[in-house]
Amino acid sequence: MSNTYSLIIFQLLLIAVLSRAVYRRFFHPLHIYPGPFLASITNVLKFYYYMQGSLHVVEQELHQQHGPIVRTGPNSLSFSSPEAFESIYGFNHGIEKGDFYAFARDKGTGASNIFSARTHAEHRDRRRKVVGAALTASHVRSYSPIVAKHVQQFLSSLSTASADAKDNVLNIAEPVHAFSFNTFAELIYGPSLSITDQPWSDTASGEGILTAFRKLSTFAWGASHIPSLSWIFSTSPVLKMTRKPTFNAAGIPTGISALAGRARLLLLEDPNLVTGVDQPSIAKSMLVIEKGNSRYMEPGETYKECFNLLFAGQGSTAAALTGILERLGSQDGLAWQDMIRSELKQVNEASESKVLDAVVRESMRYSAPFPSAFPREIQPGAEMAIAGVRTPLPVGTVVASNSWIVSHDKGLWGSDAGLWKPERWLDVKGDAGKKSLEDKFVVFSKGPRGCIGRDITMMILTQVVAAIVSKWRIESTGEMKSSAWLEMQIEWCGLKFTKI
Ligand code: HEM
Repeated sequence: MSNTYSLIIFQLLLIAVLSRAVYRRFFHPLHIYPGPFLASITNVLKFYYYMQGSLHVVEQELHQQHGPIVRTGPNSLSFSSPEAFESIYGFNHGIEKGDFYAFARDKGTGASNIFSARTHAEHRDRRRKVVGAALTASHVRSYSPIVAKHVQQFLSSLSTASADAKDNVLNIAEPVHAFSFNTFAELIYGPSLSITDQPWSDTASGEGILTAFRKLSTFAWGASHIPSLSWIFSTSPVLKMTRKPTFNAAGIPTGISALAGRARLLLLEDPNLVTGVDQPSIAKSMLVIEKGNSRYMEPGETYKECFNLLFAGQGSTAAALTGILERLGSQDGLAWQDMIRSELKQVNEASESKVLDAVVRESMRYSAPFPSAFPREIQPGAEMAIAGVRTPLPVGTVVASNSWIVSHDKGLWGSDAGLWKPERWLDVKGDAGKKSLEDKFVVFSKGPRGCIGRDITMMILTQVVAAIVSKWRIESTGEMKSSAWLEMQIEWCGLKFTKI
């Protein structure tokens, strides 16, 4: 008897799954848009390619095959035209960040940080608090000496490691990630974060922190592509499992839980450790804002925003730096190293070198640190807001445009869009030319939800690249290897270091 019931339940489930697939494929309002069959019935395809690190290339091929609008999931459309990019990420208040960003919202209260804020009103408030308190141009300038200190530490570790390495060839992926992580950890939490003079990842508590951040980011972004998976990851038993504290052999807490514990002490229990030191930091700039000021945040909010900035900044900057060094070390890059060295002799600081700026931008365009499409949801009033749409999109439709695809668009960048050519940033005619290039540069996204860490990243990248090429001639030993080409997920990038 129980076998009969099981069979009936199984058959009912099968009918439900098949009916849903048939509905999604043939009757869903998005069925009129072209795309792979599997994508129209499940998000698993997107998840699979994302985890492989090839989603951007797959989506580019799909656009070449099907045109500027492709159905990439049962409820998702991908757009490839620059005009559509502008409409999705520009100033349209009817297009919001949806459930994809749930991983960065508080599971209990639903509260958001600046990155995950859903509505424009909520986001405006967070932006005033975070950027206004700690990331204005003058704040960023004040952080420059901290960056300089970390650049020097990085150079000395590269010096030792490259001298010891066979043929002076180093895999720079991990050291670059460590440099980026440690710089941001101190910029954000201040010098009291580490109780020794060592950067955080070199301390006993920092053991495993780089791998832990790589895993966190892979799964957080990846799972977001499948809403049900994202839901499973946010349930208490799974959260307990993934947030389980880790300890080293001596019983000292390590990994993300150790960092979170130290950050809680600094920001929530004994904020004097942050505000009582002379050195500026992002947390200090936030904590000194007084109640009553529109930029004031409760300590708990500051804690969450700081963690979010670390999450957003360290991996993307590491990916950008690895990509720049790999390009500079390529056959084409050797001459650009010489040009940077010679220009650096004529300017007061690295940020004034136009050649270096061109190399940094072109490398980020070519090997985008986030080769991703950041999804948005259509709200009432925005059904026809995206350029190229012919019929109203249902409210709740997920829309996105991959910045890597736009960055490699031949219509926008010319027939050489697939080549690394820093000169395209130098052969510019007047202010109009500069503006047109800036409009096309979408690596940091655009509009009100564009990157708030752009200035700080550019400062770090120019300082560190100038320091490296001034000390060494670098030569790439081959392609970058990665299983997931998303932010810091580069696993291997060989560089030969020869002292100048
Ligand atoms: C090469 C480095 C970086 C790249 C390529 C990059 C790229 C981006 C992109 C594409 C977005 C839009 C994301 C979306 O629409 O969901 C974004 C947003 C954001 N980025 Fe960055 N980013 C970088 C560095 C940083 C750094 C260093 C920080 C922090 C210090 C940071 C903090 C943020 C935050 C908080 C947002 C959300 C902004 C908002 O919604 O108002 N990023 N970034």
